[in-house]
Amino acid sequence: MVRIGQIGLGAWGKNLLRNFYTQNGCRLVCAADPDEKGVVKLSPGYPGVELTTDVQSVIDKSKIDAIIIATPPATHFQLAQAALEAGIDVFVEKPMVLDISQGERLVKLAREKGMILMVGHIMEYHPATEFLKRIIDGGELGNIYYLYSSRVNLGKVRDIENSLWSFAPHDVSMMNYLLGARPIRVSADGQSYLQNGIEDVAFITMHYPNKVMAHIHVSWLDPHKDRKLTIVGSKKMAVFNDTEPSEKIRIFDKGIDISQDYNTYGEYLSLRTGDIVIPNVPSGEPLKIECEHFIKSVVSRIQPRSNGEDGLSVLKILDAAQKSLEQGGQPQLIQ
Ligand SMILES: NC(=O)c1ccc[n+]([C@@H]2O[C@H](COP(=O)([O-])OP(=O)(O)OC[C@H]3O[C@@H](n4cnc5c(N)ncnc54)[C@H](O)[C@@H]3O)[C@@H](O)[C@H]2O)c1
Repeated sequence: MVRIGQIGLGAWGKNLLRNFYTQNGCRLVCAADPDEKGVVKLSPGYPGVELTTDVQSVIDKSKIDAIIIATPPATHFQLAQAALEAGIDVFVEKPMVLDISQGERLVKLAREKGMILMVGHIMEYHPATEFLKRIIDGGELGNIYYLYSSRVNLGKVRDIENSLWSFAPHDVSMMNYLLGARPIRVSADGQSYLQNGIEDVAFITMHYPNKVMAHIHVSWLDPHKDRKLTIVGSKKMAVFNDTEPSEKIRIFDKGIDISQDYNTYGEYLSLRTGDIVIPNVPSGEPLKIECEHFIKSVVSRIQPRSNGEDGLSVLKILDAAQKSLEQGGQPQLIQ
């Protein structure tokens, strides 16, 4: 039985707490947040769990085997480092940290100490992402030409990290996972309207190997709630709409075929518009699947899908996008 501790019980931390409290194979032992009111409010729902405002008391190897960190990103490094140094496995929310050298230090520390380090890239555990990954790898969409996503809504406005750091980790990690590749070049543009220097909206363009292009639109200042990914392949096209309660994926048998044997220009390029299929995607709460994956990794000692290296590669892309944004959209190479 994996003994779990958690730090950070805010808007998202509450969801993690609920999941780990009811998860098989683990026992939620203690959880902390400096916000006393929040802790007092949560207490009645978690009998048997030590809920405290003493954050440091959770990082104790004699009490817990693994820790969940769901605090503001600027605090992730110090908490994750302390836990790894104490020999405690770590699940840290996205973005892993805000600085590449800190990300590298966490990855190195986890490797040296043989600890599990997982980043909360929840979209990598979404059943619809899994489905798309299967059909991309199976060749159903053909060669992937390009993909684009939007993750926009009204609120929650953050006051430290901008919309790029807050939302884009989801899209970047999902795209990297789906393509099984990392971008080589990134550019971004964005603007702050509500708070000085904190971009409410960002447009990010990523270039992957083999001419594959990706675009991400993130914003917390938008009239729509949109969570949509479109993938254009040489054989078929797919749309993943995560705001749909069911029928999240549509596969379009659409494309433009290039004929080798033609007399006129009209015959050279022929439009294909076939069926639109709504596949039966297995249901399942992504957060629950993600939490189960962490517990399995802790027990099996096999690094999770969204391990520290994955977190670090997303971090390098976000960092490059941020630099580009600050330089008026100047493209940045990813090392
Ligand atoms: N995976 C997802 O879909 C998803 C969704 C939302 C947020 N998140 C991530 O979860 C993390 C938390 O986001 P949130 O929306 O819950 O934020 P939040 O501001 O609602 O909650 C953060 C909590 O951390 C506490 N806190 C602040 N400083 C602390 C410190 N030094 N030590 C311990 N606790 C501290 C605060 O009191 C607060 O309760 C962020 O990294 C965010 O990016 C992930």
